[in-house]
Amino acid sequence: MRQLQEQKASKEQNNNNASNNHSLVTMLHQIQETYNYLPENVLRELAKEKNIPLVDLYRVATFYSLFSLTPKGKHKILTCTGTACHVRGSEKVTEEISRVLGIQPGETTEDGEYSLEAVNCLGACALAPLVVVDEQYHANMTPAQIGALFNGVRKSTCQDKESSHCHCSSVAVGSKEKS
Ligand code: FES
Repeated sequence: MRQLQEQKASKEQNNNNASNNHSLVTMLHQIQETYNYLPENVLRELAKEKNIPLVDLYRVATFYSLFSLTPKGKHKILTCTGTACHVRGSEKVTEEISRVLGIQPGETTEDGEYSLEAVNCLGACALAPLVVVDEQYHANMTPAQIGALFNGVRKSTCQDKESSHCHCSSVAVGSKEKS
């Protein structure tokens, strides 16, 4: 009988933990949607307001890769380093993205426009080498296609594209020219 009660209590505890984690993820997701990352001061306020230990917020925030504790760019670039992409030349593609944007994987451009992440298999190996820009898949990428890809992204989000101030098609992304 006692064993049964302990099992029931343990199951309830597990359900509570799962439910708490779920609501923490939802709250963190809302913060990330607002700020594009999880600012420390906002996490502190949330912990105080909800009477949640700050360490619990950080535990969840660091467990899920969708959360970031550092500011991210407006555009998220994922380059795949999984096996299929690797054997089809993703390393050179990533190097070219780094050169064009002037950042390494894990970094964000100074103007806050682009963040680059190298990830392990995006689950679309037939499209290798694969680059994902703002959730849009770009298949069979080569280093030679990268400049055009980012000029296209820049053009599609340019505020001045209808005016004579727009130089998107003639300006390369980033500051480093290929020598
Ligand atoms: S290895 Fe790149 S999508 Fe699978």
